[in-house]
Amino acid sequence: MTDTSIKIAPSILSADFARLGDEVRAADTGGCDWIHVDVMDGHFVPNITIGPLIVEAIRPVTQKLLDVHLMIAPADPYIEAFAKAGADLITVHAEAGPHLDRTLQAIKAHGKKAGVALNPATPVSAIQHVLDRIDIVLIMSVNPGFGGQAFIPEAITKAAQARDLIGSRDIEIEVDGGVDPSNAGALAAAGVTAFVAGSSVYKGNDPATYAPRIAAIREAAMKALR
Ligand code: DX5
Ligand code: ZN
Repeated sequence: MTDTSIKIAPSILSADFARLGDEVRAADTGGCDWIHVDVMDGHFVPNITIGPLIVEAIRPVTQKLLDVHLMIAPADPYIEAFAKAGADLITVHAEAGPHLDRTLQAIKAHGKKAGVALNPATPVSAIQHVLDRIDIVLIMSVNPGFGGQAFIPEAITKAAQARDLIGSRDIEIEVDGGVDPSNAGALAAAGVTAFVAGSSVYKGNDPATYAPRIAAIREAAMKALR
């Protein structure tokens, strides 16, 4: 991904699921870049959310990149289903299994962009030997499982470390958890280009608020780069 522009990825975890199609459409017309889909299994993380059927259901609703964040273990048996459902980018956790390299090969074999997510306690070095297989590193700034948690500032240090490790490679840095206009600037300065935003876009579920909220995160990030 040579594109270094700022991407805002609203997480539908905080959407009103009774009106999910409308919620995706509202984020799309509100100016988001990607739609972030949080998949949880009640095993790798202490919560259960959605599966490939939901990805398939929202696929016709938006042309934006579907950013599917798998918080499941094992991930391998489900890669094909999410790929066929319409995911554009499939991100798996480095902690989710012993065969990360194999999992990334499987994602690529389906012609999808591949990402690796790192929990707050996982060092950036976990991606060191798969750098040639990934398009994205997703730095978790909360412990995965729930929306609306407080941002862990150490993620800013990790983003900078990831940027150093990536060097000139074509790999984008994404951050996920507690992202809002108050921390987007520091993250952008550290090298983050993709910002997942759950509650800071969807909280209150009033579609009229989505465009200004998306714009506020983007503006905070871009200001730090000027
Ligand atoms: C957390 C999820 C996040 C979550 C972010 O496990 O991976 O994507 O939806 O929500 P906020 O932005 O509210 O922290
Ligand atoms: Zn996520």
